[in-house]
Amino acid sequence: MTQGIKAAAVILMAAFIAAPAFAQTSGADTYKKCVMCHGADGLATSTMAKNMKVLSFKDPAMLKATDAQFIASTTNGKGTKMPAYKDKLTSAQIKDVVAYIRTLQK
Ligand code: HEC
Repeated sequence: MTQGIKAAAVILMAAFIAAPAFAQTSGADTYKKCVMCHGADGLATSTMAKNMKVLSFKDPAMLKATDAQFIASTTNGKGTKMPAYKDKLTSAQIKDVVAYIRTLQK
């Protein structure tokens, strides 16, 4: 009986540890589509990024932006150069990729 409870606790703990790691991987995977403009580190330092006036995700304005704003911009696009992803990504993928962008801001 105690053994059973211990095993259940271990399985539960494994699920808790595995879940966020999985979410991060999928967000990171989706982010590969964004790297050419935003840069792998999100700092938008490439010549192309500068030409397109992509802001670093560490810019104060980007640090202040809400998740809702990032989700809206990714879904519907922004300005003339930031593409809309509503037909390419699911809303769950957009949420995950925004969560991944948050990790780049740390
Ligand atoms: C073709 C280049 C390009 C690609 C690819 C691209 N972006 Fe952008 N992104 C931009 C530009 C340019 C801006 C700045 C737009 C502006 O402020 O006018 C921007 C801005 C943003 C912003 C800030 C929007 C805001 O509200 O200020 C977010 C969030 C963002 N991009 C997310 C993404 C995500 C997520 C992906 C990949 C799924 C992606 N971008 C792919 C060019 C790109």
